[in-house]
Amino acid sequence: MTQTPVLAIVLAAGKGTRMKSDTPKVMHALAGAPLLVHVLSAAKAASVEEICVVVGPGMDEVAGVARGLDPGLPVFVQREQRGTADAVKAAQDAFAGFAGSVIILYGDTPLLRPETIGTLRAALAEGADLVVIGFETEDPTGYGRLLLDECGTLIGIREEKDASAEERAIKLCNSGIMGFGSGKTLTDLLARIGNANAKGEFYLTDAVALARAGGLDTRMLRGEADEVLGVNSRAELAQAEAAMQARLRDKVMAEGATLVAPETVFLSHDTKIGRDVIIEPNVFFGPGVVVEDGATIHSFCHFVDAHIGPNAEVGPYARLRPGAELGPNTKVGNFVEIKKSQLAEGAKVNHLTYIGDTSIGARANIGAGTITCNYDGVAKHRTEIGAGAFIGSNSSLVAPVKIGEGAYVGSGSVISKDVSPDALALTRAPQEERPGWAARFRKRQTRK
Ligand code: UD1
Ligand code: CA
Repeated sequence: MTQTPVLAIVLAAGKGTRMKSDTPKVMHALAGAPLLVHVLSAAKAASVEEICVVVGPGMDEVAGVARGLDPGLPVFVQREQRGTADAVKAAQDAFAGFAGSVIILYGDTPLLRPETIGTLRAALAEGADLVVIGFETEDPTGYGRLLLDECGTLIGIREEKDASAEERAIKLCNSGIMGFGSGKTLTDLLARIGNANAKGEFYLTDAVALARAGGLDTRMLRGEADEVLGVNSRAELAQAEAAMQARLRDKVMAEGATLVAPETVFLSHDTKIGRDVIIEPNVFFGPGVVVEDGATIHSFCHFVDAHIGPNAEVGPYARLRPGAELGPNTKVGNFVEIKKSQLAEGAKVNHLTYIGDTSIGARANIGAGTITCNYDGVAKHRTEIGAGAFIGSNSSLVAPVKIGEGAYVGSGSVISKDVSPDALALTRAPQEERPGWAARFRKRQTRK
């Protein structure tokens, strides 16, 4: 038997007034990715056959994010924000003739798990005409309440602004995730939704009562409250972040990493951590970071778009910026910043150093206070340091420059010309000594 195909429509046209922001709500970041990306990823992971997105006018950035995940993804524009039913209508070209069921997802519900989309899909495959994912919460403020009849069948949804005091006391809420048996069912129901309500909006949630009145099979599935939190304000964004962080930390620990103080480690949606990695307290992972097996990350590090090789040791207080690639058994110590640079196996940069646009050969040792001067105010230039080279402390390497394999750079040098393999280069002023000078100086001072 072939499975009924599913189309997911993700609504993202809302202005998000309660965020008090110039950025569209679904572009606000959660674990380093826009809210919308989380919803689209869940839909993809649930293997829905088709996905489309509804955005507001001028939300090119939102459309760009959607197309960034899938260039062919249809994006529809809802011209005026007249409610969730009106938003779905904007995508009618996608669902009107669709030979399968249709799922509506809200772009501001980023914690949704693919498994939950799977249960919705299963209920639709069983023949349900309309399925809503509900959840129970002690604080239902702001959510639509689910109305059940005495047999527990879903008969309607009441938006908070339209609810009676009695209805407001209901703790069973609408997650916003809703499925329709077919494109035709959805089309027919949408045509009958009006806007005679407190907000004067076309509520998608009215589809439930209309479906009941038409004798359709409506069902409610229970979801977890921590999965369907809707982000409407900055406070809810922070709540969603906390829930997502807890989930990401659990995942990396389940996969074999030790987090000494998990609640102090911040991960991104795409952070990859290997087995037997140890992460000390207070570490931040921005997007695009991979840590391979056996690496140790000491406290107070900040990483974005970086690759940490097997058994490497990083920190405390290290900053890895985009394009930092640390090979196996490398060491990067305190107060070191690395950008767009490669460290080959066993290379060490232990203290107080800036390495930018540089390749460092295997087992090379970069002394404390070394700076690669990669920027001349106009363009960036590369530094190449050969395998086994030794850069003495407090040296400046003025790029473009090459330090040959096995070469030494004397401490305090400013190196602006290439250094041959196995040579010593130094630019130090000769040391001069004046015997007894200090004693004479002190004597003069006390006489005054
Ligand atoms: C909605 C539900 C509510 C549910 C809650 C769950 C309706 C009428 N209410 O309320 O029952 O408990 O979500 O989080 O559906 N959107 C558009 N165009 C519009 C209006 C909204 O695309 O004209 C999008 C928004 O971008 C958002 C989603 O639809 O992603 C939900 O809109 P929002 O205004 O946040 O609805 P809630 O008041 O949270
Ligand atoms: Ca919402």
